[in-house]
Amino acid sequence: MNTNTQSQVADVKPRIRRTHLALFVADPFATAPWYEDVLGMQVTARGEKWVFLSFGQKHHDIALIQAEPNAQGQLDRGVINLQHYGLEIEGSMEDLQRLYGMLLRKNVPVVKTTDHKVGYGLYFTDPDGHRFEFFLETVHDDEEGKRLLGQYNAPSDHFDLQPL
Ligand SMILES: [Fe+2]
Repeated sequence: MNTNTQSQVADVKPRIRRTHLALFVADPFATAPWYEDVLGMQVTARGEKWVFLSFGQKHHDIALIQAEPNAQGQLDRGVINLQHYGLEIEGSMEDLQRLYGMLLRKNVPVVKTTDHKVGYGLYFTDPDGHRFEFFLETVHDDEEGKRLLGQYNAPSDHFDLQPL
């Protein structure tokens, strides 16, 4: 291929529609009920070593995959791993407060509650220690959201969320 031909090949960027997440867990079948209970998900498929779950629209949004033991017999879930996965919720501040209360009642470990300027975050962990965030958007114009996030450098300030 000569340079002239190369320069004529247009760059290709993906146009992402939706996303899904696959997580290594110790036991997908033991963990799936937590996802049904706490995140309100439905199991849509089961394999020998995995469970797929949906928030209700797509065939799956999160897949739980059995982690294999490494040479030391420990589950190999990687050293550098997911920081958190954010779930934008429907509703108001009161809904976020009710979700906070639900997490506390179910003894789900809550990591922190934060003000991000474009919304509020409620962070918690699943039974395998993966961190999730319920995110309440307060800025509903996406362009304004980008502008604010950049202007304030994506802040993560403590927010005193009252559970209901
Ligand atoms: Fe987030």
